[in-house]
Amino acid sequence: MTTVAVIGASRGIGLELARQYAADGCRVHATTRTDAALPDTAVALHPGYVRTDMTGSHASLSPEDSVRGIRKLLAGLTAKDSGRFLDYRGKDVPW
Ligand SMILES: NC(=O)c1ccc[n+]([C@@H]2O[C@H](COP(=O)([O-])OP(=O)(O)OC[C@H]3O[C@@H](n4cnc5c(N)ncnc54)[C@H](OP(=O)(O)O)[C@@H]3O)[C@@H](O)[C@H]2O)c1
Repeated sequence: MTTVAVIGASRGIGLELARQYAADGCRVHATTRTDAALPDTAVALHPGYVRTDMTGSHASLSPEDSVRGIRKLLAGLTAKDSGRFLDYRGKDVPW
């Protein structure tokens, strides 16, 4: 799968690039300076304490289990979840 990064996707050419690449099935990472162009559902995610270069080998969670949980969580989100801060298991993180 092709991955595309679009910086400045709030409008104009950047927005259209993001739309067309997404429609083609690409994985699109798009950034904006405001939330006006964000989709209906936007949440903050905590991946858990994951074994990566950042944490070292003592972290409790594998990248596979973290991402599996995040994908399951994302698949079940609705617009009502917007603004929540959730961990990879779908539990609310106090903030
Ligand atoms: N349209 C043309 O005919 C044309 C011709 C030649 C070259 N270009 C170039 O193509 C690019 C896109 O043009 P466009 O017509 O799509 O422009 P546009 O409709 O004005 O959109 C510009 C985009 O860039 C973002 N942006 C601007 N300054 C930024 C910054 N400092 N940091 C992060 N994001 C920033 C804007 O975000 P915000 O919404 O947050 O402002 C917006 O998403 C520009 O570099 C332009 O010079 C365009």
